[in-house]
Amino acid sequence: MTENNRRLGILISGRGSNLQSIIDAVAEDRLVAVIAVVVSNEPGAAGLQRARLAGIETLVIDHRTFPSRSAYDTALVEALRGYNVGLVCLAGFMRLLGKGFVDAFSGRILNIHPSLLPAFPGLHGQQQALEYGVRVTGATVHIVTPDLDAGPIVMQASVAIGEDDTVQSLSERILVEEHRIYPEAIARLLSGRWRIEGRRFVKI
Ligand code: GRF
Repeated sequence: MTENNRRLGILISGRGSNLQSIIDAVAEDRLVAVIAVVVSNEPGAAGLQRARLAGIETLVIDHRTFPSRSAYDTALVEALRGYNVGLVCLAGFMRLLGKGFVDAFSGRILNIHPSLLPAFPGLHGQQQALEYGVRVTGATVHIVTPDLDAGPIVMQASVAIGEDDTVQSLSERILVEEHRIYPEAIARLLSGRWRIEGRRFVKI
């Protein structure tokens, strides 16, 4: 990735609790980075207010106003380049990004997912885990590739599933782990001390 570009572009669609964990980590110097811009595809996303409260620039780029997925992706790329973003962090961004977007920021896009990938990709990872009956699930931060939830894994944290767990109780515990590992995974990526071997993220 571009050396020394610690400018983050954070993409959200909703409540933005992972965004908040990144804002807090930057404020507390646990993560040396600048949040250059927060972009939401949803005009009403609660996370936008979190960003504004922290004095971070926000943009709404509503996918419904674009004729195609690729036109939307192009607009996103242009907006992020306009803010000189070096690393894109997906934080509850509920849109699939096409190859055009992924290529524009190749190896410089992270996502957080509420399961231990490669188990339970896609929507409702917590519910999938409960329905499958696994005893352990968790959270994964991975590099985004054109394939959904399938890129190299940067960090994971496990969460045990109890007999009485519901989607809500499990989601709450997974979220605690998400908030812990996402800022740390971003710091690892920004350190530049890594390389990809096969599909492995390897520290150097
Ligand atoms: C998180 O569970 C994350 O893993 C998933 O979407 C949710 C976003 O939550 N990708 P929030 O908007 O960060 O609170």
